[in-house]
Amino acid sequence: MTPTRYSRAMIWLHWLTAAAVFALFAVGLTMTRLDFNSPLKPPLFRLHAVLGYAVLIMTVLRLYYKFRTPQPPPPPGMSGVRLALYRLVHGLLYLSLLVMGITGVGILVQSGLGPSPFFDIHALNFEVRAVNMHLTFKLAMLALVIVHVVGVLSYQATKGDVLGRMGLGKGK
Ligand code: HEM
Ligand code: HEM
Repeated sequence: MTPTRYSRAMIWLHWLTAAAVFALFAVGLTMTRLDFNSPLKPPLFRLHAVLGYAVLIMTVLRLYYKFRTPQPPPPPGMSGVRLALYRLVHGLLYLSLLVMGITGVGILVQSGLGPSPFFDIHALNFEVRAVNMHLTFKLAMLALVIVHVVGVLSYQATKGDVLGRMGLGKGK
């Protein structure tokens, strides 16, 4: 039978990922702006890497569930353009989660530090290609999240209980 809302696993993965992404932005923007000798800088870089790995793992798990288990159809009452935008933004959000995670690991690997999140930050090379990609995709991801949240809230205000489908409130 086709479900009318997301499964418990998809709901947990969505909200844990959203919380981790907000934390990654907060930690990422703070750690890069601290003085190089600040004692907070190394632990914040490592926390950022650990959270980034968690997002990467949760995204792979989520895509596995998405394609292996029945998913609810798109929310009712969306026109052609709105439906296309809904699909496009969700697809690009998944892509940006993967690209941010992979380019983050890429910064460590291209710096010659290997993939461990417990690296020596003084050995990071900020000239590597992955840094540029991480910083560029950060902006794309920010724009996508804003469009996503505006889309969700405007649907909730005018058309129906989309938040309920993602576990907030009763759902239908
Ligand atoms: C970094 C933050 C976020 C990311 C990366 C993200 C990502 C996603 C993705 C990829 C989907 C599609 C799920 C699927 O169909 O496979 C989705 C659905 C959804 N998101 Fe988010 N989201 C974020 C934050 C939020 C926030 C803050 C809200 C609340 C305003 C929200 C509300 C929803 C809802 C209600 C759905 C279900 C849409 C539907 O019914 O089909 N998300 N999110
Ligand atoms: C969805 C996952 C991720 C998000 C949303 C994210 C977000 C960010 C943000 C907002 C910054 C600050 C950029 C700035 O200074 O303007 C940053 C920097 C950085 N991130 Fe991530 N990140 C993610 C995953 C990762 C992972 C998995 C790693 C490493 C394993 C990582 C390593 C780094 C490093 C080394 C920097 C510093 C780059 C620099 O100083 O130029 N990130 N990230």
